[in-house]
Amino acid sequence: GDVAVLVPAAGAGLRLGPGGPKALRLLAGEPLLVHAIRRVVAAPSVRMIVVAAPAVEVGAVRDLLAPVAPVTVVAGGTERQESVSLALAAVPAEIGIVLVHDAARALTPPQLIESVAAAVRAGSPAVIPVLPVVDTIKEVGPGEIVLGTVDRGVLRSVQTPQGFRHDVLAAAHASAAGALTDDAGLVEKAGLPVTCVPGSELAMKITRPLDLVLAEALLHAT
Ligand code: C5P
Repeated sequence: GDVAVLVPAAGAGLRLGPGGPKALRLLAGEPLLVHAIRRVVAAPSVRMIVVAAPAVEVGAVRDLLAPVAPVTVVAGGTERQESVSLALAAVPAEIGIVLVHDAARALTPPQLIESVAAAVRAGSPAVIPVLPVVDTIKEVGPGEIVLGTVDRGVLRSVQTPQGFRHDVLAAAHASAAGALTDDAGLVEKAGLPVTCVPGSELAMKITRPLDLVLAEALLHAT
C-alpha cells in the first residue's frame, strides 16, 4: 500500500449519546467512525490510517478502534484544518498518497477509496469524488426572491475521501490561512488542478435523521 487515510474526528464533545458528534453517532449499534474505518482498512492500497480525536478522548478512540483496524490516533486541534495538519504530521514521507476522509460518510465503499487513490497515482495532484446535482438550484436574494437559475450541468456535489499527492497536501496546509471544510479548496487556491472522479451514493454524509434511516437500510442491503 502507498496510501495514508486521515480521518479528522476531533470536533468538540466527541462522546456517545444524543447530541454527540457525528463520528460517534450509532448506526446499527456501532459508531459511524467504526463503520467508516472498517471500510477504509478493506481498501488494499491503504497502508496507514490516522484518526485525529479530541485530546481527552485519544485513549478511548484508540480502544474503540483497536479491534477494527491498526489505527494511529493523534490529538486534534481547535479547527478541523489543524486536526488534518496534526494527523498529516504522523504520516511518514515515503507514503506518497494521502486521503482525507469524513467519518460521517460511514458507508463509503472500499472501491471508492481505491478509485480516488488510483487517480492520484495516475498523476492528478488532487482528486475529489463527485456526484451530479439532481435538484434545480436557484440563487436567491434578500426576501427570498429568486435572482436566477444556476446551470446545474456544471455543478457537482463533493464527497470524501479527497485524495492528494503527499507533498501537495503538505504544501497546501503549510500555506493555509483560514479554516476550510474542504481540503481540495486549499489546493485550488494554490492554483493546482483538482480532478473529479465519480462518487458513490453509498458515500453520502450521514447527518440528518433521515440519513440514519437510509443508512440502516443500506447496511442490511449491502
Ligand atoms: O464541526 P464540523 O462539522 O465542521 O466538523 C467537521 C469534521 O471535522 C468533523 O468530523 C469533526 O470531528 C472534525 N473536526 C476536527 N477537529 C476540530 C473540529 C472538527 O477534527 N477541531
